[in-house]
Amino acid sequence: MNRQNPILEVKHLKKYFQIGPKKVVKAVDDVSFTIYEGETLGIVGESGCGKTTCGRTCVGVYDKTDGQVLYKGKDIHKLNAAGRKELTKHVQMIFQDPYSSLDPRLKVHDIVAEGMRIHKLTMSKEQERQAVQDLLRQVGLNPEHASRYVHEFSGGQRQRIGIARALAVNPEFLLCDEPISALDVSVQAQVVNLLVELQKERGLTSIFIAHDLSMVKYISDRVGVMYLGNMVELAETEELYSNPLHPYTEALLSAIPIPNPDIEETRDRIQLDGEAPSPVNVKEGCRFCTRCRFAEDICKSKTPQLQVVRENHLVACHLYEQKMDENQEKKDA
Ligand SMILES: Nc1ncnc2c1ncn2[C@@H]1O[C@H](COP(=O)(O)OP(=O)(O)O)[C@@H](O)[C@H]1O
Ligand SMILES: [Mg+2]
Repeated sequence: MNRQNPILEVKHLKKYFQIGPKKVVKAVDDVSFTIYEGETLGIVGESGCGKTTCGRTCVGVYDKTDGQVLYKGKDIHKLNAAGRKELTKHVQMIFQDPYSSLDPRLKVHDIVAEGMRIHKLTMSKEQERQAVQDLLRQVGLNPEHASRYVHEFSGGQRQRIGIARALAVNPEFLLCDEPISALDVSVQAQVVNLLVELQKERGLTSIFIAHDLSMVKYISDRVGVMYLGNMVELAETEELYSNPLHPYTEALLSAIPIPNPDIEETRDRIQLDGEAPSPVNVKEGCRFCTRCRFAEDICKSKTPQLQVVRENHLVACHLYEQKMDENQEKKDA
């Protein structure tokens, strides 16, 4: 991987929603990361942690509250109309719900061709027909499906149509927002494999959002873990799975079922009680401390900053050294 060419640079990004006279949702609160050319960054965290808001603010769908997002060096929130249109050619999105994100009144052909028409990428009707059929083939669908409507397809097939639509404008960057969460477990891996293949073939750079850590491993080069608007851990995928340093990451990892029943039965699961609290009017201190089994006094009073603690590994936890020792002891045992 070429980690020299930054595509997306996110700097101290904040996105707040004012939902009442004195109520502010800090959906994204000072998040920073860089994604390099050809790289996939996984973003995980429970529902409501700010993943969608972060993704959408990063690609300019939402205005920011503060901070900066650079796409290939250009401030994404300062583009003029022409710049924004140009950006939609380079940056495409794949959504969670392939039922509501595809227009039921349109034939598959027209859904896939829409972007090509907007950006005037094909010359003739025949060229367009060919291009759509090629795309359908690439995402594992029958080219004859072009003349059908989306309600005739299964969830997995619809998501393939959504992927074909995104690829139709030949984008450089994909924002995949929980593209497999609404699919049957049995087809989740197929869609992930398809995305991995397409990304390799086309050299795409991407963000892959998920609410758990089970599939993210197979598609991400690095993974960022979000909790209540903050990035609490960010590391190379291998490193994150083998050496999690934030108690929240550890809990998310422990929620993944292990296919081996012997291990599954005997291992200790770290239970996360309840849902993540709401990010409305958050206080000073670690946002995870109300659910953290290690929390100490300092966690309640001082907000931990995301900091580099090992090569390519950042964590925002006052007690990370303890965790490092614990992980090392486990490895040695
Ligand atoms: N348009 C909006 N107006 C007000 N609050 C919002 C809006 N969009 C999201 N939120 C709130 O921001 C927080 C993060 O939401 P979201 O980014 O959708 O999280 P996730 O994708 O991780 O589930 C949630 O508390 C959610 O209720
Ligand atoms: Mg979401």
